[in-house]
Amino acid sequence: MFEHLSAQKPDGILMLMQMYREDPRSEKVDLGVGVYKDASGNTPIMRAIKAAEQQLWEAETSKSYVGLVGDPAFSDAMIKLVLGGAVAREDVAAAATPGGTGAVRQAFELIQMARPEARVFVSNPTWPNHLSILDHLGIEKMQYRYFDDSTCGVDFDGMITDLKTARAGDVVLLHGCCHNPTGANLTMAQWRDVIAVLQETGAVPMIDIAYQGFGDGLDADAAATRAVAAAVPECLIAASCSKNFGIYRERTGILMMVANGTDKAISQGTLAFLNRQNYSFPPDHGARLVTMILNDDALCADWMTELEDVRLSMLGLREQLAQALQQRAGSDRFGFLAEHRGMFSRIGATPEQVVKMREDHGIYMVGDSRMNIAGLNEQSIPILADAIIAAGV
Ligand code: LMR
Repeated sequence: MFEHLSAQKPDGILMLMQMYREDPRSEKVDLGVGVYKDASGNTPIMRAIKAAEQQLWEAETSKSYVGLVGDPAFSDAMIKLVLGGAVAREDVAAAATPGGTGAVRQAFELIQMARPEARVFVSNPTWPNHLSILDHLGIEKMQYRYFDDSTCGVDFDGMITDLKTARAGDVVLLHGCCHNPTGANLTMAQWRDVIAVLQETGAVPMIDIAYQGFGDGLDADAAATRAVAAAVPECLIAASCSKNFGIYRERTGILMMVANGTDKAISQGTLAFLNRQNYSFPPDHGARLVTMILNDDALCADWMTELEDVRLSMLGLREQLAQALQQRAGSDRFGFLAEHRGMFSRIGATPEQVVKMREDHGIYMVGDSRMNIAGLNEQSIPILADAIIAAGV
């Protein structure tokens, strides 16, 4: 039977990780996969995570199963962090998942169960794995305009025009903050227009929020998600703890479902069913650490301080890069880099220019010219700025 298998299309982001590892040059710069790195290129374990792990090591007495949707205390803490009271707790069903990707996958399966003919509208561009999972599940996808190549900002008129073509019961996938891969985000006024279109069409929003705290701050980054969830009768939210808690390999995420008009026992039961079908019990370690931190004033304050430092360091790098490019280009055409938010920016280079920067300067960015800003430091900023200009971007 296995002779019927064919080679799968390689994942561009993961392929780039491999190419970087195999490049023998010492001057190379890794701006690929979305992992935070400090000035020395390390991805540190956050202080609050280390402290919680130490406490957990002392206190944990069993590794027995927890529950099909994880510990309810994790759901409570995450719903508060993401939704901040915008929707009453009893109106939100939730299930812990293996990372934010697990939540995205469960959400798509839930959509397919509830309404097999639903189409999922995705931004052009979006995180490539969104497209890949939708294709794998055989769910019809529609693209809405999002990124304006000429300004490296949002093509808001195009976006609204395309979203208006959604029908009741279609799903609109939105990035809650820090759009991946572009770094270009909506203003709150624009979010209000998007909400109006969702209300008009009856399309169901699904929000992927994987970078809360990396853009404008924990609450500011969740503001759009909160506004959407409060304004529509039904929505799905896939949240990740990988980045803001720095626990990538622990696979910690959550799927939230607001389904006014559906019996809560049914919505919560469906999430439990989906977990059972796919992996039975979700991983617990990362979720437990997150719960401990969010429920302990001192740990939480320390986590917030460190997260804020991370956020500000990325903003600083953005500004330095924009400035270095302004000096070299003699114009403000790269000013958008300081306006973008989150870990990524799409610089607007062609695939050929991306290859040239990799071959001539050892700069590794994704083929669509997405760069991980956190991969930069003071030494690599001038190298990148020179490479961008030399490649003719
Ligand atoms: C990314 O976009 O680089 C991250 O979300 C990591 C991944 O799994 O692709």
